[in-house]
Amino acid sequence: LGRGDAPRDLVGRHVVVSAGGTREPLDPVRFLGNRSSGKQGYALARTAAARGARVTLLSANADLPDPAGVDVVHVGTAVQLREAALKAAADADAVVMAAAVADFRPEAYATGKIKKKDGEEPAPIVLVRNPDILAELSADRARPGQVVVGFAAETDDVLANGRAKLARKGCDLLVVNEVGERKTFGSEENEAVILGADGHETPVPYGPKEALADRIWDEAARRLAPATA
Ligand code: CTP
Ligand code: CA
Repeated sequence: LGRGDAPRDLVGRHVVVSAGGTREPLDPVRFLGNRSSGKQGYALARTAAARGARVTLLSANADLPDPAGVDVVHVGTAVQLREAALKAAADADAVVMAAAVADFRPEAYATGKIKKKDGEEPAPIVLVRNPDILAELSADRARPGQVVVGFAAETDDVLANGRAKLARKGCDLLVVNEVGERKTFGSEENEAVILGADGHETPVPYGPKEALADRIWDEAARRLAPATA
């Protein structure tokens, strides 16, 4: 299906999509970050809007223009993303966590710029765990029948790792892609398998991120609770 003839199967629905990658500050000028471009999450937001959904896009540091017709909430850190996600999920029919969330953040934030001193070794950076937003959204559904979707980039035994992660997170769908050979970070294309907690496996061939996004909405739409008036 092209953009012009999208199914209108998400009319009356509110969907939440996170995109990009969190940044965990060390001091006013430095952070720990990751290479997520945000393109897959933005493609999910655009395709959901084309299918008629009201879309809230939680954008973590993506260097992309706000998509038309989408409510965009800009966040920086994992803790900020968690807050925005819990708030937006309260009345959502589906939540898709496409953002790369930092597993750890620096324990301490220096309010002034960290300076080097002659003859002194650098201080080690102590990290603490960030909250697991996907696991929390999955465990405490804001609405009965809310569909929760995660992403995972895996290496080695990709499908086995994906299945284990799906069970661990407790989400309904996990979109698994292999990293390494064909780069996904910043690329326009993606290849994945959509794993369902119900045992379904939907392979999606290498292609545009928009096409993968539409396959994800197909799988999410099939699992949505019946629409309320
Ligand atoms: N995720 C999240 N909160 C975190 C970490 C991850 O919500 N603190 C979400 C991501 O947005 C993604 C999914 O969980 O949808 C899987 O992320 P991933 O990093 O693969 O999972 P982890 O449990 O962190 O496993 P790993 O140790 O392999 O990084
Ligand atoms: Ca992780």
